[in-house]
Amino acid sequence: VTYDVERVRSDIPALAAGAAHFDGPGGTQVAGPVADAVAATMRSAVSNRGTVTSAEQRANQIVRDARAAAADLLGSPKETIAFGRSMTALSFVTADALSQHWHRGEEVIVTSLDHDANVTPWQVSAERAGAIVRMAEFDPETGALATKAVTSLLTDRTRLVAVTGAANLIGTRPDISAIAAAAHGVGADLAVDGVHLTPHAVVDVGALGADLFFCSPYKFCGPHFGILTGRADLLESLRPIKLAVSSNDVPERFELGTLPYELLAGLTAGIDWLAGLAADPLDSAAGGAARRERIVRSMTAVKQHESRLHERLEAGLRSLPGVRLHGAETPDRTPTTLFTVEGHGPASVHMARGRARVNAPAGHFYARTAAQRLGLGEVGGIRAGLAPYTNEDDVDRLLSAVADIAV
Ligand SMILES: Cc1ncc(COP(=O)(O)O)c(C=O)c1O
Repeated sequence: VTYDVERVRSDIPALAAGAAHFDGPGGTQVAGPVADAVAATMRSAVSNRGTVTSAEQRANQIVRDARAAAADLLGSPKETIAFGRSMTALSFVTADALSQHWHRGEEVIVTSLDHDANVTPWQVSAERAGAIVRMAEFDPETGALATKAVTSLLTDRTRLVAVTGAANLIGTRPDISAIAAAAHGVGADLAVDGVHLTPHAVVDVGALGADLFFCSPYKFCGPHFGILTGRADLLESLRPIKLAVSSNDVPERFELGTLPYELLAGLTAGIDWLAGLAADPLDSAAGGAARRERIVRSMTAVKQHESRLHERLEAGLRSLPGVRLHGAETPDRTPTTLFTVEGHGPASVHMARGRARVNAPAGHFYARTAAQRLGLGEVGGIRAGLAPYTNEDDVDRLLSAVADIAV
């Protein structure tokens, strides 16, 4: 098995422009086969889903293929894969539906580590239901979200725990399986925001114990929309807002209006592309490994590749005078580092590096509560996130651009 980063890079058309991209946690650069599939779909006859004309059948097939591909990526049944405008839109729809089962005085747990898209929707729905929201706090010194910080808030009134699979601001990976076991122990459901986890790990939603799981393909070199999956019987029990005449089947029930067929074709192409990142010569042989198996192998290789470069990046940053890493003291983080440079506001560092064509933005990245808890207020820090296409040269360019600014 080989991971050839230069081959991976040659598949990403945007990299030809020459910038080093550390902005993947906000949105990765797109794989060529994704763009090709989107364009090819828009150039073929596609109508709304149906069975009569080939254009209708094509739309049908695109949706079926995309559900199957996402199911392979997430290790969940394809019948439970729903698509939406974004993770945010799906989490609002789901929170609204789930909270119809909540009662006054019941409780919901969110965390201070999370992106707001896994906090506000639950808070709004809890308030409407008269439920109480509790906030599990992470440790700003280390960046860890102790399992106990969440589980100590569980009571027999807890209906839902919403926690991130990985923190988009600082890369912390909470122990989701342990949180799931404890939440289930009191009869609560667990909603996992997998947006920042999915690009950097082998995901198995069932093994994680997530009752609801969200991700967004544009964080793993795919198109811009959101994916929801979850426990089949839970999805079946929910009554999301929908048109009177649209399908009440799961997953269609959760999909407001017509799906973006071209983007779904892009998703399938993107997942096939991801599955091939760690090539094995036997893959092309008849009876080669199934896609799920190739995804597991490839994402394992991506993780190793990114971890190696992440170590190089963090060691380099730590050696620079006046550079401080935030919440970077937990094991097994995603390759995402938040840092500040003494004497320079994050926005000016972002701009200076932008001039050096090293793209690493500044801010709180919608994890505002986390940034505040880290002592970085509204301003946040500079975030450098690695992606499957990051190479050593990128890392060294970032380090030298920061070294130019640091005293
Ligand atoms: C961890 C995390 N959760 C949720 C979101 C929101 O995703 P979407 O843009 O698909 O609504 C993001 C986007 O940055 C994210 O990083």
